[in-house]
Amino acid sequence: MKTRITELLGIEHPIFQAAMSWASSNSALVIAVSNAGGLGVLAAGPLRIEDFKRIVAEIQAGTKKPWGLNIPLNNPRAPELLDIAFQSRVPVMVASQGGPREHLARFRSIGAKWLHVVASVEHARKAEAAGVDALVVDGAEAGGHPPPSEVGTLVLVRRVVKAVKLPVVASGGIADGAGVAAMLALGAEAAQLGTRFIATPEAGVHENYKRAVLEAEVEGTALVGRGRHPIRQLKNAFSAKYDVAERAGSGDLDQLFNSSSLKQAALEGDVEWGKVEAGQSAGLVDDILPAAEVMKRLVAEVEFARNRLAVL
Ligand SMILES: Cc1cc2nc3c(=O)[nH]c(=O)nc-3n(C[C@H](O)[C@H](O)[C@H](O)COP(=O)(O)O)c2cc1C
Repeated sequence: MKTRITELLGIEHPIFQAAMSWASSNSALVIAVSNAGGLGVLAAGPLRIEDFKRIVAEIQAGTKKPWGLNIPLNNPRAPELLDIAFQSRVPVMVASQGGPREHLARFRSIGAKWLHVVASVEHARKAEAAGVDALVVDGAEAGGHPPPSEVGTLVLVRRVVKAVKLPVVASGGIADGAGVAAMLALGAEAAQLGTRFIATPEAGVHENYKRAVLEAEVEGTALVGRGRHPIRQLKNAFSAKYDVAERAGSGDLDQLFNSSSLKQAALEGDVEWGKVEAGQSAGLVDDILPAAEVMKRLVAEVEFARNRLAVL
């Protein structure tokens, strides 16, 4: 299947494994997805500089195919991470949270493609004006940081596709090939899946986290931190406590928000009091499968969806 994104990046399938702090902050998941013809994306946000360098070298040794690197540009270590990415000649940047303009010329000079993650029409237009190569558009179903506007993927992706000329990668709520095909039908040129790839042996999170994703139903997530920089996570003791405090109009919501972390859930396995970031699509994920198997299944399911539409 050829789309503007597969052509731009030189990948076989229009499928991205989303950047996920801790879950995709290792080499194994990125290598497996890229070698299977998708785009594996390393989440650099939580990594120490030494670990980052080591993991980039592991990926370069593990795949000759294109792979992506996510650096949240508002991260205090972003300048140092960007320097290493540049020196390492990273093929694809998938940047989030911050302005891309000042970085583009430098990364173009090494032939890198720059994709930018946006969650609104306004930010899509701004990123296009800045000169990025493509957009990743996150809708409200997404795990991690969905749009504060809470506009869903179906509507936001369609709106952005009509608002910009750049190729769009749809993200948020997609867990199988039917979802990928739906996004292609909307006009997206690829789809990005995060939560689906948490349920793989390669994902770098605690077994409790993976099990919690399998057990979740589609109603099983909460948006925590409305009016701030909200996260979507699985409902647990922490989200329930936050919900009560929010409804009561409690004044110390910031303190409560910061009392729990993704790391607590991802590395320590505390799925009750940690932030178990995951999307609504957790309710569509029923099994832990090697990432290469997930890719194979996705490709077959996209084909099935295309054929189904063709005969209707
Ligand atoms: C556990 C987790 C961690 C995430 N960490 C990041 C991150 O470090 N950088 C980023 O740009 N997006 C991050 N995201 C958002 C994903 O890149 C992606 O937009 C989202 O997972 C898509 O929704 P889905 O989970 O329904 O597939 C994270 C998402 C999850 C679930």
